[in-house]
Amino acid sequence: MRELRDKARSLLDPVIRDFYEGGADSETALAENERAFARLALLPRILAGAGQASTAVRLLGADLDTPVLVAPTAFHRLAHPDGEVATARAAAAAGTVLIASMAATTAVAEVTAAARDVRPDAQVWFQLYLQPEPEVTAELVRRAEAAGCTALVVTADSPVFGRHGRDERNGFHDLPPGYAAENMRDLPGTPPGGTRPIAMSPALSWADLRRLRELTRLPVVLKGVLHPADAARAADEGLAAVVVSNHGGRQLDAAPATVEALPAVVAAIAGRIPVLLDGGVRTGSDVVTALALGATAVAVGRPVLWGLAAEGEDGVARVLRTLREQTAHVLTLCGARDRADLAPDQVVARGIRE
Ligand code: FNR
Repeated sequence: MRELRDKARSLLDPVIRDFYEGGADSETALAENERAFARLALLPRILAGAGQASTAVRLLGADLDTPVLVAPTAFHRLAHPDGEVATARAAAAAGTVLIASMAATTAVAEVTAAARDVRPDAQVWFQLYLQPEPEVTAELVRRAEAAGCTALVVTADSPVFGRHGRDERNGFHDLPPGYAAENMRDLPGTPPGGTRPIAMSPALSWADLRRLRELTRLPVVLKGVLHPADAARAADEGLAAVVVSNHGGRQLDAAPATVEALPAVVAAIAGRIPVLLDGGVRTGSDVVTALALGATAVAVGRPVLWGLAAEGEDGVARVLRTLREQTAHVLTLCGARDRADLAPDQVVARGIRE
């Protein structure tokens, strides 16, 4: 992973590297996501007779080979000319879900086609920012359904755009010429062939989410959940899953590390719907820590971008394979056959004891 990250860093234009790697404001939430995992240790169970571990997981009715999903991230063609097509192919081959970003540089129909080309039952979920104009959201949903996406992921942690100091310093505000947010092309209100800017809306509420659910039969996953009361509400409202996320430290800089927010969310959901987590997951130990604390699966954002920038489809495949192999290894070392054998008491804080 470190090798791919270093290679990506050396290959990427510094402005694009800063866009991918940066966080909001003083980048505290960004740093804390990784640091919080480093502050936790795993207590293995011994002589458990578990045998070889399995990383397989069933999620929203689909059988996945790994509990590590691909988080939605914008603009993959800035990392590699094959862009989202490479990411989709690697995710499908790895037997995991690609959460395709609404802010992709490839239209969702092309992304799902690339995934299905590798594996007919590939799972692609569509990430959505609810747009202030209902007809725009409705058209995006229609396109995701027509493309064969199997779930919608509504990102709710972004009532406004995050303030990214690195991008401000670099003057990076728009896609360079030759690239476009392809899902935003030819939507209601755009001139033919033109794209609409993605809007954030601070006025969104649970009522908008209910209206979305009336538009579609696809399961709706809520991303950006940190408060346990919001998690409980998501389950009450009939959402399909939640993602504990602080947007990779790119929105509220004072947000807690996601692994620290996870236990209260898991308690509030009380097993009613799956809880996913993203933010700072870099190793199999991080994955197993999140699973032991009650996550059904995790997602990775920046590691996929490093793999993509370094080696295209092969690099993304390498990131996903490495995380799956490490997860299986750590599960075995913890005496667990799978996630169900793990318990929260196996996660302990590291600390210096006198
Ligand atoms: C993101 N993320 C994101 N989330 C989302 O819902 N829609 C999006 O378009 C994007 N775009 C995006 C771009 C970049 C460059 C990054 C780094 C992140 C957030 C993403 O889904 C996820 O929450 C974090 O990336 C997880 O943290 P790690 O794995 O990057 O530490």
